[in-house]
Amino acid sequence: MKTPVSRVGNKSSVLHILYALFPLEYNRFVDGFGGSGSVLLGKPAPDSFEVYNDFDHNLVNLFHCMKERTMTTIRELVFCNLNSRDDFNALKKFFEHERFDDAFFAEELELTKIMLPPASAAELIELRTRLKEDYSVRRAAMYLKLLRYSYSSGCKSFAAQPFDISKLFDLIQQLETRMASVVVENQDFETLIRHYDRPDTFFYLDPPYFSTEDMYDVEFGWDDHVRLRDTLAAIEGKFLLSYNDCPEIRGLYKGFNFFDFKRSHSMAQRYEAGKEFSELLIGNYDLYERQRAKPAQLTLFSEQPDNFDYEKILKECIISCKEITI
Ligand SMILES: C[S@@+](CC[C@H](N)C(=O)[O-])C[C@H]1O[C@@H](n2cnc3c(N)ncnc32)[C@H](O)[C@@H]1O
Repeated sequence: MKTPVSRVGNKSSVLHILYALFPLEYNRFVDGFGGSGSVLLGKPAPDSFEVYNDFDHNLVNLFHCMKERTMTTIRELVFCNLNSRDDFNALKKFFEHERFDDAFFAEELELTKIMLPPASAAELIELRTRLKEDYSVRRAAMYLKLLRYSYSSGCKSFAAQPFDISKLFDLIQQLETRMASVVVENQDFETLIRHYDRPDTFFYLDPPYFSTEDMYDVEFGWDDHVRLRDTLAAIEGKFLLSYNDCPEIRGLYKGFNFFDFKRSHSMAQRYEAGKEFSELLIGNYDLYERQRAKPAQLTLFSEQPDNFDYEKILKECIISCKEITI
């Protein structure tokens, strides 16, 4: 299924390439930098054990609400049709000032317990907890609108493009069913990878790209790129990592397996039609094992399988087919 969430850097346009390079066998699928959820939700079939993770708490709250409080989230989205620059700026300010900090809520509950007699405190705590839950739903709905109405889903400037939010309701309902048994996490990648690593785990990882890290609210610097490499170098499971193709990242992952390709540069099309962006996929397993496993008669080539250039086959398929059967 398609994701209802738009997010800068989402992988919707290259899913067929990613899936063609997924390992043949694994039991646990973990998306460590989940973003819009496009990769997990777009898979042709769910895996029996799936984890969606992102360190951005607004994004994770949105997934949590769409999954667990689906109808309330849809009802909240119905209110306030946001199609003006002023509304957009008001929402942006709201999130910039982080007025939804859970620390205040915990402090408030503690004070309630200390200052009120137990019976009244219990009543007030229940009321406040219920209000907070709705607060999460309101926050989720506002965040989805902020993403949807911003230029390139970057949450920075108003897109000035009309969008009917009700078009997402059906997808949100599908998401409720699709994500019913998906674990949703809000962890830094290192904690997450260490926690879920097993020989049969497959991590798909799509971190902020080198030199464009400031597109996201969560900070990510060179030390984090190095920390990610060091964490991945020590895992028992398999990983596939997406990056922009540049000397710094090729240097950092020297010795791992690479697959490079070009895709249309969606953010640049307005001022430079046809501009392309170089992507690099990095893995710690044989990236062509899926292609190798296909019966020889299913390929377009007549050579013996031993002589196949699987990298060339994949690249030709990517350009000509736009879809690769997996
Ligand atoms: C390139 S985007 C992922 C896009 C995603 N694959 C998709 O298709 O939408 C990178 C994501 O990493 C998240 N992120 C940044 N720092 C992180 C960290 N330390 N641990 C986990 N996630 C992080 C950001 O919030 C952002 O959503």
